Parts: sequence; structure tokens; C-alpha cells
Amino acid sequence: MFNILIVGAGVVGQATGKGFARKGHSIDYVDIDPVKVNQLTQQGLLAMLPDQVDWTRYDVIMLTVSTPTINNRVVLDYLEAATLNVGRGLATSDKFTIVVVRSTVPPTTTERRLRPILERAAGKTAGIDFGLAMNPEFLRQRSNVQDFERPWITVLGASDRLTADILTDMYKPFGSLIVNCTPTEAEMIKYVNNIYNALKISYFNEVHTICEHLGIDSKLVGATVARSAESMWNPLYGTRGGVPYGGTCLPKDTVGFLAFCQDMGLDHLMLEATIAANERLARTVAPVAWLDEVEPTAGMHSLPLNKLAALAPQAA
Ligand SMILES: NC(=O)c1ccc[n+]([C@@H]2O[C@H](COP(=O)([O-])OP(=O)(O)OC[C@H]3O[C@@H](n4cnc5c(N)ncnc54)[C@H](O)[C@@H]3O)[C@@H](O)[C@H]2O)c1
Repeated sequence: MFNILIVGAGVVGQATGKGFARKGHSIDYVDIDPVKVNQLTQQGLLAMLPDQVDWTRYDVIMLTVSTPTINNRVVLDYLEAATLNVGRGLATSDKFTIVVVRSTVPPTTTERRLRPILERAAGKTAGIDFGLAMNPEFLRQRSNVQDFERPWITVLGASDRLTADILTDMYKPFGSLIVNCTPTEAEMIKYVNNIYNALKISYFNEVHTICEHLGIDSKLVGATVARSAESMWNPLYGTRGGVPYGGTCLPKDTVGFLAFCQDMGLDHLMLEATIAANERLARTVAPVAWLDEVEPTAGMHSLPLNKLAALAPQAA
């Protein structure tokens, strides 16, 4: 069992800390907000301000600091300040401590922005003197504790083998599929996960408007398409990348349905963008009728495709 320090005792920090505590690990929290530190202390948890931390105690340090978007830009100032504290702390310790970034950050942040801060402040090298990993959080705000307890997937982007092995063992008791990858892949997975969710919601919002215009039940349409469209239940359908859709159905139906909507005076922005994106790609790459005909790209070979495929429900 490990001594774990949670840096940033907010929603994700507390869900993470409480989840690992239930698996028998010893958890301390550090936060710059004295009110939060006080609240946690009153709950009987060990919480402190940054200057009270004994950095030599910890096997794993998890960064769960806020990364707000201000004026459409991701602000990394809080995370960088917290990382600098951790780096200075590592300088005082002889342990192989693993630093885990759990905040949502743009791809390359861990390797290109946080690693140099840690290495410079600690006077040490990531992957040799300390471990560095990116382990995004997929929990939902409203059900954060339950989501952490029963994750459907765990993504571990470690920069070295020892760190990957230790974190894999830490997460095994939670029972989810574990995907091992690089820190940048882990950061990308988190953003693509959220953006894909947003795309799907926006798409079905537009479908809802069209259904309302036609006087039909959008809930029935959405719920049925969730079963009928292969992309909804086959986790690999259309995810390989680099090849435009072709064949007899998708090109004609996308263009035809867009004109049908426009004739009714309705926008279908998601469909317009889909057609434009496909046409642009088709100018340089030949379209295919069946996405299964596409060979997996080199990067996909490192993913546990067999495990992902096993998640897909069988077609009736
Ligand atoms: N809330 C969610 O449902 C959710 C889900 C997945 C991912 N995330 C991501 O996780 C990260 C944390 O989100 P959250 O909702 O827990 O944020 P939060 O605002 O609830 O908590 C962040 C905490 O970090 C503390 N903090 C700021 N600077 C610090 C520093 N230098 N040292 C120590 N503590 C510091 C703040 O005082 C605050 O208590 C963000 O990157 C967010 O995008 C959030």
C-alpha cells in the first residue's frame, strides 16, 4: 500500500483520494485554499497547505489542480505553480516518487511543460529519479465518487516502464479495462473523449429540431439509432482515421438529407461540417465503402483492440 499525496483537493482530488483510501492506501491532501484544508480536516482527513508538506513521505503524488478555460484558452498557471512545488519537494527526497497528472490538459503539456518544471526544480530526471505519468479522470461531476469506484476505463500514460507497472497494479483492484500509452496519448484521449461526447450531443440536438419540425418523436428516433447505427455500439467503427467514407449510401444520403433539411428552412450544421470534412479528405485519399476494409494504422497496434472489441454488444 502506498502513501499518496493529492495536490488540489477539489472534486477530482477528493474522489481520487477517497477511492484510493477505500483500497487501503494512505491519503494526504494539499491545497492552497485554507477553507478547503479546514473542511477536510474537520472530516477527519489529513489536509494541509503547501508549506506544511513533508515531501519525503510519498510514493505517489497526484496533481488534480484546476485547469480553467479563460477567454477560450486553457490556463495552466495553477497546475504549473503546483508542479513547481512538487519539483521542489522532490529535490528534498531520495525516493522514486511517481508524479501523476490527473488534471485535464492539452496534449504535450505533461512532457513539454510539466516535465521541465519538475526536472529543473528537483535537479533530477523523469523516468530515472522519479516517475511521471498522465492519468486523465473520466468521472462525471454529479456521480464523481461512484465513477471513481467503478471506472469503465483507466488510461495510464507513463513515461517509463516502472511507473507504468506500479500504476497498473494500483488501478487493477478497480477492475476496469486499463489502456497503457504515452502521456501525450493520454492527454489526447481525454480531450477527444469529451469532444466526441459534445459532438454527439450537438448532433442529436439538431436531429431533435428536425424531428420537432416534422412532428415526430425525437426520443424514439435517437434511442432507436443508438441501437441501429453500428458506430453507436461498435467501439471500433469509424475510429481508425485517415480515410474518407465512400460507397453507395453515406455520400448520397448525407448530401440528400442536407438538401431535404435546407428545403424545409432548417440548418443542419453538424451534417454540413461532416460533408465538408469528408470532401476535403477525399481530395487526397480515396474513399472506401466499408471502414473495416481499412488496415489499422501503426499507432493502433499498441491499443488493446481485442479488449475494446469485446466491449461491443453483439448484433441481434
Ligand atoms: N469536476 C469534474 O467533474 C472533472 C472531471 C474530469 C476531469 N476534471 C479535471 O480535473 C481537474 C480538477 O478539476 P476539479 O473539478 O477537481 O477542480 P476544483 O476547482 O474542484 O479543484 C481544484 C483544486 O485545486 C486547488 N489548487 C489550485 N492551485 C493549487 C496549487 N498550486 N496547489 C494545490 N492546490 C491548488 C484549488 O484550491 C481547488 O481546491 C481539472 O483539470 C478538470 O478539468 C474535472
